[in-house]
Amino acid sequence: MPEVNVQAGPRSSVRRPLVGGNWKMNGRTDMARALAADVRRSIGDALQSAEVVVFPPFPYLVHVRDALQSDNDRLAGIALGGQDLSVEDDGAYTGDVSGAMLADVGCGWVLVGHSERRTLHGEDDAMIAAKVRKSFEQGLKPMICIGESLQTRQADKTEAFLAGQLRAVASALTDRKADDFAIAYEPIWAIGTGATATTEQAQRAHAFIRQTLAGSGVDAERVRILYGGSVKSSNATELFGQPDVDGGLIGGASLKASDFVAICQAAAATSVNQA
Ligand code: PGA
Repeated sequence: MPEVNVQAGPRSSVRRPLVGGNWKMNGRTDMARALAADVRRSIGDALQSAEVVVFPPFPYLVHVRDALQSDNDRLAGIALGGQDLSVEDDGAYTGDVSGAMLADVGCGWVLVGHSERRTLHGEDDAMIAAKVRKSFEQGLKPMICIGESLQTRQADKTEAFLAGQLRAVASALTDRKADDFAIAYEPIWAIGTGATATTEQAQRAHAFIRQTLAGSGVDAERVRILYGGSVKSSNATELFGQPDVDGGLIGGASLKASDFVAICQAAAATSVNQA
């Protein structure tokens, strides 16, 4: 096993912090509009130092896009993303949504390989690699989610497992600009459970992911690696302060504007602090 850096230290200034808000299957029209408008109104200058993207359910993408427009009709700088995309383009694929459709309604990002897609919809590594390629083909930036189960962690197989998930997508990433995608490390045992990884567990996994990407010929120093799994405003600063944690993918806490904005501000502050 390679030695990994678990020391806290400054994050590289080549990586702009990034925060995603994964709304999952929550909300209705009014809630989606209000949440997006509240985030836009209160996010302030966090956007000068951090990149922020929200992933609402498909039916509300257009509502959210419109709510993210500022009063003078400019986009507020918060990006829009889809929670999944089809590996197909158009055609007889009932229930699916294509990357072209997401791009058409204003998405710049898309989640790929979330553990809930892997476990509830049987998405395997080959399908996830195909979705990563399709994202790029449609001009979308994939936020690629990986992470181990509690059983894998307890069996001390986390790194081998993460390496396998990365190997599956590596060839799709090698000729891509590092800004055009992100990796979200989301240990399954920490998602929605309130059990956050310790800063040391997170840093160790992130450093390992960065080393593994570098070994696959990816410009790993510039790739944003986000932590996801019960991030809250109360633990964001500590997690984002780790040298290889470049922001977060936020589920539950992204459904409350004040919490989500506080987390975005924590990410922005790590950028400011690293001068
Ligand atoms: P959580 O979800 O923040 O509610 O744990 C994270 C995610 O699944 O992206």
